[in-house]
Amino acid sequence: MIAPDRPRRSALYLPASNAKALAKARSLPADVVILDLEDAVAPEMKAEARAAAVAAAREGGFGPRELAIRANALDTPWGADDLAAIATSGADAVLVPKVSTPADILACEAALAAAPPGLQLWAMIETCTAVGQLFDLAALAGSTRLSLWVMGTNDLAKEMRAQLTPDRAAFLPILTQAVCAGRAHGLALLDGVCNEFRDLALFRAEAEQGLLLGFEGKTVIHPAQIEPCNAVYSPAPAELDRARAIIAAFAHPDNATKGAIQVDGKMVERLHLEQAQRLVAVARQIAALG
Ligand code: COA
Ligand code: MG
Repeated sequence: MIAPDRPRRSALYLPASNAKALAKARSLPADVVILDLEDAVAPEMKAEARAAAVAAAREGGFGPRELAIRANALDTPWGADDLAAIATSGADAVLVPKVSTPADILACEAALAAAPPGLQLWAMIETCTAVGQLFDLAALAGSTRLSLWVMGTNDLAKEMRAQLTPDRAAFLPILTQAVCAGRAHGLALLDGVCNEFRDLALFRAEAEQGLLLGFEGKTVIHPAQIEPCNAVYSPAPAELDRARAIIAAFAHPDNATKGAIQVDGKMVERLHLEQAQRLVAVARQIAALG
């Protein structure tokens, strides 16, 4: 499934068991809200969190925000009940964790058979096995509800026994591979979280790195990370000016039959025209969010 074309600059996680955070999420400027039933919820709170997430989704009030609920994996005691409950909740997407193989996606797809056709299946890429099968996993976008990946860098660090350093050196090859596989099959792509929610300079640098790598947004864990995340993932005014100049240049009759031209001393080709058009479209969508 192709995800609806919309801004996903920031995707805020919150434990669905946290009533205060849940109420707050409806007015925070995140493009996406992810109600978590998995890692952020203790085992004894799982049923309560599920009920709270479903009630919140039914109640609505999230305005233009896209709403996802992160389920527990199907091989846990809660996964099947989570998927069944989310299927009828009215949420936009179910995010499934610890997807490793195509069979995992197909099992989730089967569990969602009766869900509304618009319900998207989002998957966490956070196991070493998944990293070895990225293209096979991404290819399922063509035949299932799978429409978006979220990078789970904390779980990857744990499985790999690697360290999440500020430059994320251990994860760069994986992030790049995931972007290539996801883009090859039309998936939307969200970067992993930055745990250091009091250090906004570090957060901003990490968000900028994700933008450079090709992500269209980043998952965040704290309200303070939303504004910097939105800022990083919004086209900058200078970038937009250049995009508009490229569009105008190719629209000029003199350039109608040309493939490569120069704009302000730099070569641009028709592939840059497509990039410029995409950037302007993204800016228009962001403006429409209000
Ligand atoms: N969503 C919505 N509101 C949140 C929030 C979130 N993710 N994180 C914090 N807040 C709220 C708090 O409820 C608090 O509200 P108040 O001012 O009305 O009391 C305010 O923001 C300030 O919170 P703060 O005191 O700075 O942090 P905290 O100690 O309450 O919480 C965390 C810190 C990390 C526990 C919390 O941010 C959190 O649970 N994040 C999400 C974790 C998660 O979902 N992980 C799974 C994916 S990795
Ligand atoms: Mg995880």
